[in-house]
Amino acid sequence: MIHKIDWNDLNFENEILGWGSYGDVYEAIWKSKDGPQKIVIKKFRPFIEDSAIEKEFGLLSLTNHDNIVKLLGIAKDGDSRTVMVMEYAECGSLHKVLYQYEVCYMRRIRWMLQCAKGIEYLHEFSPQILHRDLKPQNLLIFNDYSTLKICDFGSAKELDTKMSNGVGTARYMAPEVSIQNSYTEKCDVYSFGITFWEVMSKKKPFYHLRNTVDFHIQKKAIEGDRPLISDIQNIQSDQIIKLIEQCWNGDSKLRPAMQEVIRDIQFCYSKDEDKHFNDSRSLLEKYEQEYYICSIEPASDSIFPEIRLPHEIQFLRKPQATVKVKWVDISINEVIIH
Ligand SMILES: Nc1ncnc2c1ncn2[C@@H]1O[C@H](COP(=O)(O)OP(=O)(O)O)[C@@H](O)[C@H]1O
Ligand SMILES: [Mg+2]
Repeated sequence: MIHKIDWNDLNFENEILGWGSYGDVYEAIWKSKDGPQKIVIKKFRPFIEDSAIEKEFGLLSLTNHDNIVKLLGIAKDGDSRTVMVMEYAECGSLHKVLYQYEVCYMRRIRWMLQCAKGIEYLHEFSPQILHRDLKPQNLLIFNDYSTLKICDFGSAKELDTKMSNGVGTARYMAPEVSIQNSYTEKCDVYSFGITFWEVMSKKKPFYHLRNTVDFHIQKKAIEGDRPLISDIQNIQSDQIIKLIEQCWNGDSKLRPAMQEVIRDIQFCYSKDEDKHFNDSRSLLEKYEQEYYICSIEPASDSIFPEIRLPHEIQFLRKPQATVKVKWVDISINEVIIH
């Protein structure tokens, strides 16, 4: 059952949070039973048909997963047009966060793991759901940058024998979607691979092509052109590179299932997390030989000042001196002694 929300209970702040090809997204306060709540409203463009709006909120309302944005209900605006009411992502889209901040390697891997879990949930759903427009603009960041959720079900569809071609965004679109009317959930695995590359390289997919109009990108992707893997630098595990290349394989059958993707990322993640803690620890231990460390505080220009030091590092404290730790996100870069 989809919750019907009274338009008058929505205090529209007119603050536009984002926009896409289907609609504009606004911040608002909802006077709900549990008290006022910050939410977002998605208003659709006039040319979008009611049936398309119903399809979008209908599919989203079926889902219930930690890595998929929650639909709180629908409301009718002054023009009797349906608007969607969703939970508010206070950190914005992954696209915004990625290009605005320096985000450490481990956090980026964790986000991709969460994204993979959300996609796997859709692919395991009965009937199976294909998202068909996975990209950083359609991934939202919540809870102090710790949680990623998939949004925008405007292109999503239950798997059918006949699928329309050309659905999605050119840079992230699997070659078979550009040309065929039959494709499978593996089109999302391709888009995930391109997104993963972008998250690790912080570059726009296919920027290396001289001609970046949609049609040309699609043509090049069909011919086997892909983003430059060498743009991913300082990677701690070659397995991530291998996984990205498997995900964007031209032959959709050779792309891994999302379950395998999750397994691979989890494997790299546990190994990398150990390395990450060990690197940070040995950096501090070096200083500990010379100083007694009594407190550790983030440098004032830390990008994510709210983030606590990993438990294991706090454990190294000794009485008597203060050190300032300069870090990028949660990775310690430099230790400054006072
Ligand atoms: N729940 C949300 N919280 C915060 N920002 C959001 C939320 N949903 C969407 N946005 C922002 O609005 C943009 C457009 O929303 P989206 O649902 O993708 O619309 P479209 O179907 O037009 O692409 C997103 O790229 C994102 O930046
Ligand atoms: Mg969108």
